[in-house]
Amino acid sequence: MNQDRRNEDGEYHRAVLLDEVAELLAPVMPGIVIDATFGGGGHSRRLLDEFGAEVTVVGVDRDPEALEQARELGVVAVQGNFEDLSNIVLPIIEEPPAGVLFDFGVSSHQLDEASRGFSYRNDGPLDMRMGPDAKHQASDLVNDWSESDLVRILRDYGEEPLARRISRAIVESRPINSTAQLSTVIAQAMPAARRRAGHPARRTFQAIRIAVNDELDAVRSGIDQAVDMVRPGGRVLAISYHSLEDRIVKQRFVAGAAGCTCPPDLPVCGCGMTAELRVLTRKPIRASAAEVESNNRSRSAVLRAAERLAA
Ligand SMILES: C[S@@+](CC[C@H](N)C(=O)[O-])C[C@H]1O[C@@H](n2cnc3c(N)ncnc32)[C@H](O)[C@@H]1O
Repeated sequence: MNQDRRNEDGEYHRAVLLDEVAELLAPVMPGIVIDATFGGGGHSRRLLDEFGAEVTVVGVDRDPEALEQARELGVVAVQGNFEDLSNIVLPIIEEPPAGVLFDFGVSSHQLDEASRGFSYRNDGPLDMRMGPDAKHQASDLVNDWSESDLVRILRDYGEEPLARRISRAIVESRPINSTAQLSTVIAQAMPAARRRAGHPARRTFQAIRIAVNDELDAVRSGIDQAVDMVRPGGRVLAISYHSLEDRIVKQRFVAGAAGCTCPPDLPVCGCGMTAELRVLTRKPIRASAAEVESNNRSRSAVLRAAERLAA
């Protein structure tokens, strides 16, 4: 792995729910697994360790820096947005994949690297693009968008109760040139009580990042294409970090399974009702207390999985 891209702990990103992902993919081996959010390759590495020659991993990431990790791991890697998953991977695989894995959001490397502009803790440019395909930079939204558009994204993507107040402060403070300046503007717009309850800029930064990268449309489209692409018996796994992503995954899986009333541990559908999916995680899987203790990022991780049924 490229040392330059690691943090002071020697990590690019610490993957979450590794055992759980490997366990859910074990029954579909041997086969091709698309790691649609390659990042630092933690999940891919685990699959290669666990399944050896039985698995062929294809890595996808929007971020060219992530793909450097893929090349070092020796897996086939493609730069692109999983919003176009079929166009990106179908031309380079010889059979339908046995599994598709999504681990949404940003990597620790992207967050830690101040020059990427994702962090409200480190000063950097207002960028927040996960990859070169993003249509905006954070500075476009912060300095050019109307106040009402800012209110809308802060509410819809940040679930920020003070969306109106913060948007007004942003508009009145223009031009805003750095993440530190934006963070200060947000903090100053907040009542003292809110400033004590977690970092005041967290929700606003999340909202801007989601809008810059059009993340929710990508999740919707990526999950749809993954469901269509996996072979019968193949599995789609998705790890979400906030309710907006998780809701999309959950609703897609539930819609795909409508009609099938079999219990989740039944190996094949026995009810005869037409459905394209069997949901494998009626309740989403969360990290164990031990994992949360050792990797705080896993605290909000929610894993859902579904299996494609034979036509
Ligand atoms: C949480 S990290 C994945 C970490 C990875 N599972 C690991 O074990 O290191 C998310 C990665 O997905 C990428 N990503 C997010 N949205 C994407 C999209 N729409 N298309 C392709 N890659 C995306 C980000 O660039 C980031 O590298």
